[in-house]
Amino acid sequence: MKKIIIQPSGKSIDCPDGESVLSVLEKQGYALPNNCRAGACGECKIKVLSGTFDQGFVMDMALSQADRAAGYGLMCMAKPTSDVLEIEFGTQDAQPKLFPPVENSWHIITDKIQRTDKIMELKLLPLGKAIKFWPGQYAMIGEGTDEHPLRPYSIANAPKQNGELSFFITKEAEGKTSPWIHHDTNIGDNIKVNAPYGTFLGDPSVDTPILCLASGSGLAPILSLLNAYLSRGHKNPVTLLFSAKTKKDLLHFGEMKYLESKYVNFKYKYTLTQESNKDGGLEGRIDAILPDLLPNLANYSIYIAGSVPFVESCKKTVEALGAEEDLIHMEEYFAQQVG
Ligand code: FES
Repeated sequence: MKKIIIQPSGKSIDCPDGESVLSVLEKQGYALPNNCRAGACGECKIKVLSGTFDQGFVMDMALSQADRAAGYGLMCMAKPTSDVLEIEFGTQDAQPKLFPPVENSWHIITDKIQRTDKIMELKLLPLGKAIKFWPGQYAMIGEGTDEHPLRPYSIANAPKQNGELSFFITKEAEGKTSPWIHHDTNIGDNIKVNAPYGTFLGDPSVDTPILCLASGSGLAPILSLLNAYLSRGHKNPVTLLFSAKTKKDLLHFGEMKYLESKYVNFKYKYTLTQESNKDGGLEGRIDAILPDLLPNLANYSIYIAGSVPFVESCKKTVEALGAEEDLIHMEEYFAQQVG
């Protein structure tokens, strides 16, 4: 057993041999940002003040040689090798605030709904206890074998008492798990879930207008957050702008219209990027249409979710419209690209 010491709080945590720093921190309820959990995105990079660790195989774009020389490491892959590993992790973040992840929780597949050509909605109920999570978090799901490993998918619903979890599974032709879920699993089968993970969270105390930008299965965490914000009685305007290639790709169109009629402060807009919008609505990419739609984003809380290029492009656009960096939250789908 090793020890991880978090500075500047000085708090000490036991770390079983062979476990990653991220996994140990999460089990203790600490909210260390992360995304791919595979050494590819750099989200979990923090400074190691003393001690040694096995960094494992990580990509240079996530941890440069200069980062390494300056003492930084990627905590999703880092395993302490010295008795004590001292890391720098802001005191505010060091407050326990997340639910500890549960591993190997068997769930039963209760529904599979083909939403678009590539995206299936998968619904699960727990065979044991309901997993607690915050809206916007994700789960690792799959068979847990080399053939069909666990893969990260954002939870698309707000927490429910019966523990239901729903996911949008994009079929990646070259992937291992997503084609298996699409074609080889049946309603009534069991599937393994590890959850919750991630820090793409809604702040319940937020008192600003909210803008959500999503494309494809990026709608999943946004749906979860939206339902939580709206049902909690958020009073400021909430706008969702969804980018789809064609009208057939409009996920949950009916639910969006329902939310729009139920909550006067919620506006749903969509834009089509690869066909004309016969309803007279928006056409074109978000970077082209957002400036006309919402020219001033100062004091907006912004949530962006989708593929890496989509998120990067939206981030630049909202920054140019005055969005404040602290209020921009992003969920980029690195790991899901391997499906
Ligand atoms: S590099 Fe650690 S979460 Fe992506």
